[in-house]
Amino acid sequence: MKVLALSGSLREEAFSTRLVDAAADLAPDGVEISRFERLEEIPGFNQDRESEVPEAVEDLRSRIEAADALLVITPEYNASMPGQLKNAIDWASRPHGESALAGKPAAVLSSSPMPFGAIWANQQVRKAFTITGTPTVERELAIGKIDEKIDATNRLTEDVARGDLAALLAELNELVAVIADQSGQEAIPA
Ligand SMILES: Cc1cc2nc3c(=O)[nH]c(=O)nc-3n(C[C@H](O)[C@H](O)[C@H](O)COP(=O)(O)O)c2cc1C
Repeated sequence: MKVLALSGSLREEAFSTRLVDAAADLAPDGVEISRFERLEEIPGFNQDRESEVPEAVEDLRSRIEAADALLVITPEYNASMPGQLKNAIDWASRPHGESALAGKPAAVLSSSPMPFGAIWANQQVRKAFTITGTPTVERELAIGKIDEKIDATNRLTEDVARGDLAALLAELNELVAVIADQSGQEAIPA
């Protein structure tokens, strides 16, 4: 299974981006995680010019389409997901009827040095995914005090957080299998 990870932070040493490595460390066998690294190149979405698709947006859409699943990792800015992440979700959801996000299984992870682990940003991504038709694993994983739980090699050091992230990835794996099974059944003629 190929998972595309989208870190919502542009910061070089972002916990959100470091968590891509932590996820790769805890992923079930057979799950490969790669990161979309061009978030900063995506310009602000303007519906007047949405037919002029920037190359970085083409790349994002084709990477989402080529992946079996998405792992969105969001920080929280002022109780919300960062603007650059919402902007990428908006671009990926267009044009209407051809959204790269429609039907793509996803898991959402958030983290913060604050105790609540960016839960509001996490819930915002999940809410956006209800509108984009992106099936999302039920587990809502928000890792608080992330600065105390990740080491210099980007591995999670706390057992609870390790178990929770491993469970999130296992649920994503299962969701991909369930959706593949459903679409196989739909393809069988009556
Ligand atoms: C503009 C701004 C607003 C922030 N607002 C919140 C917030 O609402 N909740 C929170 O838990 N942390 C907040 N923080 C702190 C971030 O959680 C912290 O900077 C975190 O490391 C950012 O994620 P990153 O490491 O993935 O870049 C804010 C940081 C910035 C720069």
